[in-house]
Amino acid sequence: MHTSRRDRIMSQKIYAAITGAGHYMPEKVLTNAELEKMVDTSDEWIRTRTGICERRIAGEGEFTSHLATAAARKALEQAGLAPEDVEAIYVATCTPDMIFPSTACLVQTALGATKAYGFDLSSACSGFIMGLDTACAAIESGRVKNALVIGAEKLSTVTDWTSRDTCVLFGDGAGAVVVQASDEPGLHSSYLGVDGSLADFLSIPAGGSQQPASETTIQEHLHCIHMSGRETFKVAVSTMVRAAKEALKRAGMTVADLDCIIPHQANARIVEAVAKRLGPGAPERIYMNLQRYGNTSAATIPIALSEALAEGKVKKGSNVLMVAFGGGLSWGSVVMQLR
Ligand code: ACO
Repeated sequence: MHTSRRDRIMSQKIYAAITGAGHYMPEKVLTNAELEKMVDTSDEWIRTRTGICERRIAGEGEFTSHLATAAARKALEQAGLAPEDVEAIYVATCTPDMIFPSTACLVQTALGATKAYGFDLSSACSGFIMGLDTACAAIESGRVKNALVIGAEKLSTVTDWTSRDTCVLFGDGAGAVVVQASDEPGLHSSYLGVDGSLADFLSIPAGGSQQPASETTIQEHLHCIHMSGRETFKVAVSTMVRAAKEALKRAGMTVADLDCIIPHQANARIVEAVAKRLGPGAPERIYMNLQRYGNTSAATIPIALSEALAEGKVKKGSNVLMVAFGGGLSWGSVVMQLR
């Protein structure tokens, strides 16, 4: 059958690939020793139970949109794109500057991304992977050519600084990637899911339509992160292992095909347990930086990817598995080849 040039062009697959990454961490460091003065904890407990040594805290006048914009600028620079080239901005965050306008709008104007639309995604620690998959779908459909996916959090504003159960875990920061249309495969596979029946494991109970701000919600610290740590731990390990294996299966790959595994950075013990269960070759491929930054929710994976690129641990052509887990409960995994 005769096929026209137009038909051939129309049938050409458009791939979606990460072409740049950047991150921005606030200057202020909060050490475990400083936390010892705030709550009944110890550096030894925090290190052995979580692997975290210090985290970053944004300044008073520094908001999630500022962190996001700074990370996005670096990602654009690495990809060699101007802000006007960006057509879509997806910001994954559970600490937006405001309920609305979306943080994506504030980032759009700060960047001068005059041709972009954008919105925020709320999926706690899985938000970046959800956003990355959304961006890839938009690109593969031909609707968007250049997108920014940002994970940015100012968790210090939703941390209960009187609760040792949670305040030692979280930090602020942002990471961003540029996703572009490509002739060569970028996204090999993705696997996303949620289970709302376990919503109570991790939540910020007040501030929404269920419990609007009131004197009581403030007194009871209901605008802060509440977590059933032990229960979450177990589900985190089994879910991340399942998600990682499913993404590999869908990509037709094994751990041996990967150059790097970037898991959500919540707890070193979770990361180590996941690595062990993924089998031989996985532990040495794991990238971990939570010792310096703690859990920055939606930002952990793009921050880690950006650092892994800067350190030369991954480069153009590398196959990277990214796997996240968080409140919702929610999870997501992708296997991507960097371009
Ligand atoms: N310092 C000292 N002691 C502490 C602290 C602290 N900061 N926190 C808790 N303890 C105590 C507890 O009170 C408890 O004491 P008890 O035995 O006398 O009752 C003891 O330490 C053990 O507590 P556990 O909760 O069993 O400790 P565990 O080893 O499970 O570690 C942790 C707790 C770090 C929270 C862990 O369960 C964890 O990492 N959970 C998963 C977190 C996670 O993955 N979250 C998902 C992403 S977050 C998001 O989506 C926003």
